[in-house]
Amino acid sequence: MTSDSINNQKYLFPTSCGSNESLLILLNRTSEIICKWFSDADKLGPIPIDRNFECSVPGEYGKSLNVLFSEIESLIYSSFNPVHPGSLAHLDPPPLIISILGDLIAAGLNNNLLANELSPSVSLLEESICKWFSIKLGFSDLAGGVAASGGTLSNLNALVAARNFAGLETDQNAVYLISEDAHSSFEKCTRIMGLEKNNLIKVKTDKDGCMDLIELNKSIDECSNEGKKIFAIVATLGTTVRGAIDPIHNIGRICNDRNIWLHIDGSIGGIFSITNLQISDFINVNLANSITINPQKILGITKTSSLLIVSNIEILKNTFSTGLPYVSTENNLFNRGELGIQGSRPAEIIKLWLGLRFLGMRGIEDVLNSSIEKRVFFENNLDTEKYDLYSGPLHIISFLPKGMNKKESDSWTHNKRINLIKKHFMISRPLFKNRYYLRAVFGNYNTNESHINELLKLLN
Ligand SMILES: Cc1ncc(COP(=O)(O)O)c(C=O)c1O
Repeated sequence: MTSDSINNQKYLFPTSCGSNESLLILLNRTSEIICKWFSDADKLGPIPIDRNFECSVPGEYGKSLNVLFSEIESLIYSSFNPVHPGSLAHLDPPPLIISILGDLIAAGLNNNLLANELSPSVSLLEESICKWFSIKLGFSDLAGGVAASGGTLSNLNALVAARNFAGLETDQNAVYLISEDAHSSFEKCTRIMGLEKNNLIKVKTDKDGCMDLIELNKSIDECSNEGKKIFAIVATLGTTVRGAIDPIHNIGRICNDRNIWLHIDGSIGGIFSITNLQISDFINVNLANSITINPQKILGITKTSSLLIVSNIEILKNTFSTGLPYVSTENNLFNRGELGIQGSRPAEIIKLWLGLRFLGMRGIEDVLNSSIEKRVFFENNLDTEKYDLYSGPLHIISFLPKGMNKKESDSWTHNKRINLIKKHFMISRPLFKNRYYLRAVFGNYNTNESHINELLKLLN
């Protein structure tokens, strides 16, 4: 039955009887390479300067494991290394160790969150973790949620549900509002939903980077004068460039008065709102109809890990369910592949569940709080005579020498970033309000005060 062209049958699939010794050998070998790469980060830096990985495509015959392992090493050693303490560029922290195990378990199980019969325990896990988040966020018993591969998809699930709920699925006058500092992926969501650019209305922000309420009311009035029908307002809980938080309470009140769906993009800040950390407006998140929470961005749950929590789970069912005619479904069970855009889904919830269980609420707060403290330390010690700073209450800060125009900011940030990478600090270079900035994201648990002092020396 098997083909001779496969070079070593015993390494093909796990066996259903016997010891699976060959799999264990390969897992150990792989773990050793990964662990060595983590440890080598100190001397290699966050990102390889000379990237020498070349992709070899599949040939007529399979390659030996020795060849593959040398290619695996080359791939790994040409990768961005998030565990290096100088990795401060993006919302991509080091992976929690327990979460790495979660990914391994998910791959081993190879269960499918499409349907209960393909993931009986993991479907229950996903439902329970979403319920736990719903309660933590202050929603009622009707609430629930679904996991998706990243914040963009969770937001898209919410927008499709909101438009459906408003009965505007095919209406080209349907619009939704975001702040001008909201994430660029909303433009993608707009296109996917078959809408034009002018169906996405960007509301100006105030000096703190929060959605301006006067501007919001103005935009709402303009929409009604122009016959546009608003199906959602999106408030951002933690903007990408400076971590600003839109005024959820007031936006919630406006949505409530006008019967408009409030979606919160909490891709960055959502996880803070289940904690006791005292950050403005976090207690008001239960005013929303939906909220995206994206623990991959700060807690170190390995990518991808994102949840959409909705105040009424029936709305997701009504929006996305088509029935799965080829799947056997027990009476009281709902197939969770019918709660969003994705059909087949990996068991990503395992690593989130394990990560949350391992940390507990205290551990979660510790990780989040330490990120904020690092940003505050950096901000307090950056030369404010020299730099303009943009930050909010979270762990993100953007900065630029005062008085630069776009062209100057372009070359300064470009050169500075390259110099910093050579010194093993990787920070990002966002284009924001028509100038380039440097941005540091202090979500790396391995970064300590002495690293930040070193970075400050290179900047001040
Ligand atoms: C505020 C915000 N929303 C949404 C996204 C998109 O998330 P993802 O990259 O997981 O799709 C990002 C990404 O950084 C973000 O910062």
